[in-house]
Amino acid sequence: MTQMVRPRGLVIAVDGPAGAGKSTAAQAMAAMLGLLYLDTGAMYRALALKALRRDVDVCDGAALAALLADTAIVLQRTDDGRSQVLLDGDEVSAQLRSPEINATVAEVARHRAVREEMVRRQRTLAVAGGVVMDGRDIGTHVLPDADLKFYLTASLDARARRRQADLAQLGYTVRFEQLREEILQRDFVDAGRPHHPLQQAADAIVIDTTSQEVSRVVEQMVARCRQRLAR
Ligand code: DC
Repeated sequence: MTQMVRPRGLVIAVDGPAGAGKSTAAQAMAAMLGLLYLDTGAMYRALALKALRRDVDVCDGAALAALLADTAIVLQRTDDGRSQVLLDGDEVSAQLRSPEINATVAEVARHRAVREEMVRRQRTLAVAGGVVMDGRDIGTHVLPDADLKFYLTASLDARARRRQADLAQLGYTVRFEQLREEILQRDFVDAGRPHHPLQQAADAIVIDTTSQEVSRVVEQMVARCRQRLAR
């Protein structure tokens, strides 16, 4: 039997609100399928970090776009399989998860000029395929022709608990109520922004992760990918 020739590797979009478990599940799925995991939220976070360091006003879209034009953001995988972010050549992965960045990144991601450039870079990263791209507007805007689209969601409390655990691992103690409020606020900005808001694609596979173990979520996602590959 001749093997089907694929013009490019699989392209998978994973979207959903903050704390829905996207990055953990998407990373595990990518590793199991031998695909490259690309965290687009980290790109906005990297720009937020540079803006804070340079004292650039995060409400000023033109200033942020100018800063981005002069910024190199590289998403890469280490030999032991971890995802790393290089900002102008420096490894900044842990710093991107700080409470300061959590509090400012949604504002950075709101500006049209910033989004246009980020989307251009993201599409370039996906050109060759073989990628799992995680974000908010991947299935609807960045890669509308993705082979598979997942939309992960979870209750607000479950998402706040996950964020609290993630932050604790990084050494930050943040009250549950405060995180809940911050996530609500971030949902409001992400879903309400005029340019490419958080939205579920009409053809996305929706998975509610509220009361599911990550392994179970990953299993479902991988099974769908294998079905897609077998077509
Ligand atoms: O997934 P995250 O929490 O790391 O995302 C950080 C912020 O970036 C969040 O406020 C939403 C925004 N974002 C976006 O607007 N579009 C994307 N594709 C990814 C993230």
